[in-house]
Amino acid sequence: MQSGARDSPEAQSPPGVVELREDVPLKAGAGFGAGGDEGCCAGGPRLILLAFAALSAAITLALLTQIYYGDYEVVPHGSVSSSAAACSSAGTDALKAGGRALDAAAAAALCLAVLAPHRTSLDASGSLLYWEYRQSRTQQPTLYEWGGPQPATVAPPPEPAANASAKPVTRPPRLLAALASLHARYGALPWARVLQPAIELARNGFNVSEGLATAEAAAGSAVSAKGTLRTEPQLAQFLETLQQNTSAELSAAWGGASMARAGTARAAAAGGWRAWSGGAGAGVALQAFAAALLPPPTDADDAERRVVNSLQQAATGTWPPAGVSSGLAAVDRLDTYVALVAGLSTPFGSGPVTAEGWTRDEPVAPLDLAPAIITDEDICGTRYVVGAESSGALAQGAAALAAAGGPEAVERARVEVRHGGALALQVGRPAPAPAALPPAPAPAPALNATPPFAAVNVVRQSADALLSYADSRGGGYASRF
Ligand SMILES: *[C@@H]1O[C@H](CO)[C@@H](O)[C@H](O)[C@H]1NC(C)=O
Ligand SMILES: *[C@@H]1O[C@H](CO)[C@@H](O)[C@H](O)[C@H]1NC(C)=O
Ligand SMILES: *[C@@H]1O[C@H](CO)[C@@H](O)[C@H](O)[C@H]1NC(C)=O
Repeated sequence: MQSGARDSPEAQSPPGVVELREDVPLKAGAGFGAGGDEGCCAGGPRLILLAFAALSAAITLALLTQIYYGDYEVVPHGSVSSSAAACSSAGTDALKAGGRALDAAAAAALCLAVLAPHRTSLDASGSLLYWEYRQSRTQQPTLYEWGGPQPATVAPPPEPAANASAKPVTRPPRLLAALASLHARYGALPWARVLQPAIELARNGFNVSEGLATAEAAAGSAVSAKGTLRTEPQLAQFLETLQQNTSAELSAAWGGASMARAGTARAAAAGGWRAWSGGAGAGVALQAFAAALLPPPTDADDAERRVVNSLQQAATGTWPPAGVSSGLAAVDRLDTYVALVAGLSTPFGSGPVTAEGWTRDEPVAPLDLAPAIITDEDICGTRYVVGAESSGALAQGAAALAAAGGPEAVERARVEVRHGGALALQVGRPAPAPAALPPAPAPAPALNATPPFAAVNVVRQSADALLSYADSRGGGYASRF
């Protein structure tokens, strides 16, 4: 059992290395006007000088990289961070094939729906932040949400009971329908290609993860040992039938536009940072984030203690929301950011299994889905794209990223704040420093958090340099190309 984040090799690159893309100086001369599509921090002659400096640095770094890490590329063109290696790879494969961040996020999310049925499914509810960063002067991140408890206004009025045994209305699985509608709008790859990795894993088999094996044992269902090869032929067949159509056709047939609701992300600004988030816990998470950064914390423990204090106050109300989820972050070569968290009201869904092989999930309360984008206030400063698996984990992870940064921030000890404000420790992981917890006479944490613990999966962009971290709590793996 490792305790460190398994991050992709670029996480070891010096963070100061910027502007290494070989096409940048050429673009500067060619006029950047077209569509305001310039890269970050592009400038005039200064750029050329910078480019020379960068070139020298690039050569040095390339040599060092060759020496230490073999044949990795110096500057990744995109990155995906999720809680399963196969799914992060499915995402970066989509980027390599010419896909955009939405293609990568959709491919990874569908893959997770097959590999991690204890946390997400084709019928998962979701919360997604989408941001084309190069348009950030005029556009804020857009929030799309789907699923959750069905609003009372959507429930059909009770029909005269003509046929009491009429079967329930069939509807498409929600994650799939929402991703089809978003893909129709933002995708670049063919829809069939986006479905392909999930189909192959369902058809050819995948290794049961430790998290899945543990969740199955807890649910008392048929248990497979970790590492057992599992196939989902019915899911593979269902997804294959959907390869015949474009996402636009499916979206139209399913009423997809109404399934992914566009909304306004919750936003907060504090201590030189801005953050946007979605999901039922977004308000509380952002409030705790702001409390940690204003006034500036003395260190990461100080930030953590203030977050915990703020969460405990919120926990006297309806927070935290319920549910389990799987979070991912994707960034493409055009600096489009997607933070996507998909989740279920209960592990494996509330059922039943449909004839097509997917399991329904009908939440009765809003779910704890916590995608986020965090930026420092300088244009071209550091930006984090975050798929967090609970708002409590987001608040603690985001404050640590802002206060300290780096993989340590993702791996830092966190506590679970329960209804009423009790704190639960994550057994098997380092405990938080005493300075990171409320001071005496507050009771010390006496409870154990229930595994699997919420992961915080992150892609960081600093100027044009990408780094990605996947939380070892989720068994995570960040992939880039
Ligand atoms: C009710 O619907 C079921 C299935 O749709 C059908 O088999 C049955 O005949 C219907 N009963 C009546 C009374 O209409
Ligand atoms: C499953 O795990 C085994 C051993 O850890 C590995 O050799 C195999 O390639 C894995 N299979 C898949 C489909 O990932
Ligand atoms: C899906 O594709 C098939 C074959 O091209 C076509 O017959 C069908 O009408 C399409 N379905 C939708 C919902 O557009």
